[in-house]
Amino acid sequence: MSDASQPASHQTILVDGKPRYHEPAPQGIDVEQFRQVVTSRRSVRKFTRKPIPREVLDDCLDMALLAPCSSGLQPWEFYVVRSPEKKAKLVKACMSQLAAKTAAELIVCVARTDRIDDFARKMLREWPMPDVPKLVQRYYQLIPYNYAPGPLNSFALVKKAAFAAGGLFAAVPRGPYTSSEVQLWAAKSTALACENLVLAFRAHGYDTCMMEGFDEVRVRKLLKLDDGAFPIMVVGAGERADDGVFWPQVRFERELFVHEV
Ligand SMILES: Cc1cc2nc3c(=O)[nH]c(=O)nc-3n(C[C@H](O)[C@H](O)[C@H](O)COP(=O)(O)O)c2cc1C
Repeated sequence: MSDASQPASHQTILVDGKPRYHEPAPQGIDVEQFRQVVTSRRSVRKFTRKPIPREVLDDCLDMALLAPCSSGLQPWEFYVVRSPEKKAKLVKACMSQLAAKTAAELIVCVARTDRIDDFARKMLREWPMPDVPKLVQRYYQLIPYNYAPGPLNSFALVKKAAFAAGGLFAAVPRGPYTSSEVQLWAAKSTALACENLVLAFRAHGYDTCMMEGFDEVRVRKLLKLDDGAFPIMVVGAGERADDGVFWPQVRFERELFVHEV
């Protein structure tokens, strides 16, 4: 039984006599339309000169921000590089790839490891329900310690050793502890947001090319990125040119990738 008088985000139902948050799973979504978005996405390396409408760009970025993210901590940033001078520099940093040169928009996708503490606190401040459950409170209070590698990975190595010992007796988290593991942690969630981004462009009739072929030092300098920010890819977006896809899509046989155990 749902309480329709409350905003959708605060609907509760009774489960075993206890009030529980309830968010129904929408049904009737057209899977064939979704499939078309997924299957028609290709890496496009040549775009027409048609600009992407501002509202489309914003909608795609908003959908990127809805990607799942580890601990809900949203360790990403998207720099839409619009100034012509900066764009020219970014194209060069992308080694003048045609996908960058012809793109109507260039978006640098950045994974961040330096906002974990801030965002853990923000999460507690902005928790979307009147009371923050005790478990949630404890979780976000602990997170800053969890993901802090310490100077020269010193905390990380202590945590690794402690959990390895505990791991002899029970399942334990094996990371992320070191700074490179935390970097990978942020990159994973950011890459998911990138996928949302490119699928959203496709759904709007535009195309993209993810690029990790760029000079990180130059991109860092261009965007004045600090140590805790890692550009993981540049997404070029625009309208697909007639010869924008260079060859048919290649995917190896399913058996190489999908296993039932
Ligand atoms: C992380 C990542 C980095 C990529 N970097 C580049 C790149 O620098 N330049 C490029 O032309 N394509 C790049 N690609 C596109 C891949 O080459 C492409 O996805 C792959 O060949 C499969 O083709 P499809 O995307 O059309 O299915 C990249 C893709 C990913 C996921």
